[in-house]
Amino acid sequence: MSRSAHPAGPRHADVLPEGHYSAPPADLNALDPRVWAQTVGRDGEGVATVGGIDVKRLAEEFGTPAYILDEADFRARARAWRTAFGTDADVFYAGKAFLSRAVVRWLYEEGLNLDVCSGGELATALSAGMPADRIAFHGNNKSTGEIERAVRAGVGRIVLDSFQEIVRVAHIAQSLGRRQRVQIRVTVGVEAHTHEFIATAHEDQKFGIPLAGGQAAEAVRRALQLDGLELIGIHSHIGSQIFDMSGFEVAAHRVVGLLRDIRDEHGVELPEIDLGGGLGIAYTSGDDPREPHEIAKALTEIVTRECEAARLRTPRISVEPGRAVVGPTAFTLYEVGTVKALDGLRTYVSVDGGMSDNIRTALYDAEYSVALVSRTSDAEPMLTRVVGKHCESGDIVVRDAFLPADLAPGDLIAVPATGAYCRSMASNYNHVLRPPVVAVRDGEARVIVRRESEEDLLRLDVG
Ligand code: LLP
Repeated sequence: MSRSAHPAGPRHADVLPEGHYSAPPADLNALDPRVWAQTVGRDGEGVATVGGIDVKRLAEEFGTPAYILDEADFRARARAWRTAFGTDADVFYAGKAFLSRAVVRWLYEEGLNLDVCSGGELATALSAGMPADRIAFHGNNKSTGEIERAVRAGVGRIVLDSFQEIVRVAHIAQSLGRRQRVQIRVTVGVEAHTHEFIATAHEDQKFGIPLAGGQAAEAVRRALQLDGLELIGIHSHIGSQIFDMSGFEVAAHRVVGLLRDIRDEHGVELPEIDLGGGLGIAYTSGDDPREPHEIAKALTEIVTRECEAARLRTPRISVEPGRAVVGPTAFTLYEVGTVKALDGLRTYVSVDGGMSDNIRTALYDAEYSVALVSRTSDAEPMLTRVVGKHCESGDIVVRDAFLPADLAPGDLIAVPATGAYCRSMASNYNHVLRPPVVAVRDGEARVIVRRESEEDLLRLDVG
């Protein structure tokens, strides 16, 4: 969003403070379908509803704060990814975005595979019945215990991230009498973030093995020699919240270049290529993400073209969207606590959660939107900052947002597009209890991750 002044004039000052905001929206009561989950709307009384249930009822029944997840939307998005890529490609949902056993079952039913990156995520996936051969195991520092569990379980692939790990996985697989299917994660020298990609020396990071300097080619050489490993492909993940496909284009070009070199050196055509995740979603009305079918078409065309040029058979493609599946499907429901108007500045609206349920604003300067959802209002827009209840001034949920000037304690407000990397990155800072995730569908709501209790906190504190 641009930094511009509020044309109608601010409520508390003649000049608005610096901030990431544009003019207030024309209609503060509108819930933009690009940003909100698919079944969100307002009922005749102006109360927001999701999956046929109004948010006041959800707040009464489940308390606030709470993540409210639109199950129909989640399934529809998962299905859209699955359908877009068809049967010649695999879609691995990135569990780091948000994982629970209910989610694993939905993914299974909708035909998706699952990417996990820790023993905990693996345990969740297996305990919910995801077939091990549909699981990919990631991570830059998997422990030997984690590797052993993954190999024993029979995961479909382990994505190797270092030279040590090549040897470690081979050794463990061999000692268990297995041949583990693996990919090698390479860094292609492209880092894509937000709306841009920068093709510079982004090998300078902890993930993957650099293509540059022949390191990735050396990793392939070693992996091909080890009996415990079946090298099935090359993996690349270029970044997060990407709107522009040109970063993938460069990545695919370089990965296919490696596949060509492998064929030339070893006479082997690796059958798979994984292009990772990172596809962007709309956090505010200003964001304009692409649909899964457009992404699938673009990626498939890029890989096919590159392979034709290299005279290679087109490998099976896989992708790993996390945010783009779950992000838009949930919102965080908060109750307004205090409302503090600072003359000449803005109004601070405190909610009953904060950086413990959404660290993304503090950590990445992420932008979110927010709306009054327990009622509509005709009051003038007021510039607010939505903050949490933590003992830290950086505890900001929405940095700059317009809310109606009659906002009062007890009102319910909601922050959309919090399905990804909010519950999964939640903390207990200040011993605040992590909120539940409530799944809503066809007029029914059920808790899929319950609210943390003080007993939960005290149980870990063994004195
Ligand atoms: N595959 C790999 C290998 C990844 O490292 C990631 C994300 C994904 C897939 C899924 O990316 P997605 O489609 O969800 O963007 N905490 C940050 C995001 C970190 C993402 C790390 N890796 C955030 O809140 O924005």
